[in-house]
Amino acid sequence: MSTADQSEGDINLTEQRTNWITNDLDERTRALLAEDARYFFHQSLSTPCLNVLTGCDGSYLEDVQGRRFFDFHGNSVHQVGFGNPAVIQAIAQQMQELSFCPRRYTNETAVALAKKLAQLAPGDLNRVLFTPSGTTAVGLALKLARIVTGRHKVVAMWDAFHGASLDAISVSGERLFREGVGPLLPGVSHVPPPDEYRCLWECHQRGGCDLKCASYIDYVLQHEGDVAAVIAEPVRTIPYIPRPEYWQAVREICDRHQALLIFDEIPHALGRTGKMFTCEHFGIIPDLLLLGKGLGGGILPLAAIIGRDAFNSAVSQMAIGHYTHEKNPVLCAAGLATLTYIEEHNLLSHVQQLGQQTLQQLQAMQQQFPISGDVRGLGLLLGVELVTRSTNQSARDHRSGSRDVCGPAPWPQLQSDQWQHPFAAATPNRDGPGNGHSSGNPGGSLWRPGQVKAQ
Ligand SMILES: Cc1ncc(COP(=O)(O)O)c(C=O)c1O
Repeated sequence: MSTADQSEGDINLTEQRTNWITNDLDERTRALLAEDARYFFHQSLSTPCLNVLTGCDGSYLEDVQGRRFFDFHGNSVHQVGFGNPAVIQAIAQQMQELSFCPRRYTNETAVALAKKLAQLAPGDLNRVLFTPSGTTAVGLALKLARIVTGRHKVVAMWDAFHGASLDAISVSGERLFREGVGPLLPGVSHVPPPDEYRCLWECHQRGGCDLKCASYIDYVLQHEGDVAAVIAEPVRTIPYIPRPEYWQAVREICDRHQALLIFDEIPHALGRTGKMFTCEHFGIIPDLLLLGKGLGGGILPLAAIIGRDAFNSAVSQMAIGHYTHEKNPVLCAAGLATLTYIEEHNLLSHVQQLGQQTLQQLQAMQQQFPISGDVRGLGLLLGVELVTRSTNQSARDHRSGSRDVCGPAPWPQLQSDQWQHPFAAATPNRDGPGNGHSSGNPGGSLWRPGQVKAQ
């Protein structure tokens, strides 16, 4: 059996990794890593861990040895930076006042966050439910789509990721997360994602995307006849960034076949792409929009499902998901503080500006360095696809010998003073820029800046 693709995680399992452990980590770190490996279930991608952290702030992580790493990855939670003081203060204050809210009660903070999201979300997306994780928001959306349409089938995308539970992996499309656990949800059909660089229909031979991938969704919906929903990430975090025409076509296809369109914006809503909601780039409104990750300010776990007002009557007699922390005021305080911070600090226009500059620089570097096969970006969701020099084959297919494939480090060294945490001015007691290390895996093929500012 071939090895499942590990595009989501740690791909450097080479001798260089062994060298990193031997030469760059001290005894205390190695001992903690060994304990971690002893007491946690080992699972692919996250263990063995790379390092042991003792601090995080802004765009930086700090390890046991006091080294600061510029974090390009952030697990997609750091729209407002790690340890944002405004979020911490809101959490602390809420904990003093009302720290929990049992079911059948509500509270001012939860209502304020639901109201704020309903006001911000486009169109008639103005009914909200909170869940404790992105995965559970996905489960709730699938359930809601069944109830609203009276159908159960779903069209999802290969390569997509929607979370870890059985229902979420059923609609995800990465083999690594789906294999070895037996039967998944019935009625799920997968279609190829809108990946223009490696289009299954070879659209590059016809001058670029001609929406064959959207036409195929139409074909599947037509043949299935009774699909409840199409679920997708409007931009894949890898990233794939479709043309607006793609989503406009899919929206029309869903409407024609009376299927809902569910957008999983969990990793990139709330500003990462330069808009509050990613769907705003495409000029369409989904029927259900999912948020998570950074909604809790990068500190607390909080996700949300925002749906059309019209769906309220369909679910009002049902119990579709009362999670224990559904209206937890502390989580909601983190969410409110995060949204306020994004608005008050004009983060959206800042991300648009910085994303544009960075994309231009990466495109210029692409001319210079043949291993940069493709550069894609929307705001600060950016990716460089590393390929072999001669064949455009993904460099990750050669990870065991990636140095041989790519040649000696071709990327210019970033000077630490070229990059600074965007909120440094708002966090006067914090250290300045670190030592220019960057976190993430030391051989990954993706480059995903979080909230940073070129000086
Ligand atoms: C697109 C997408 N959907 C859903 C999830 C699941 O979120 P959580 O880990 O909070 O359950 C993730 C997490 O990485 C994600 O990237």
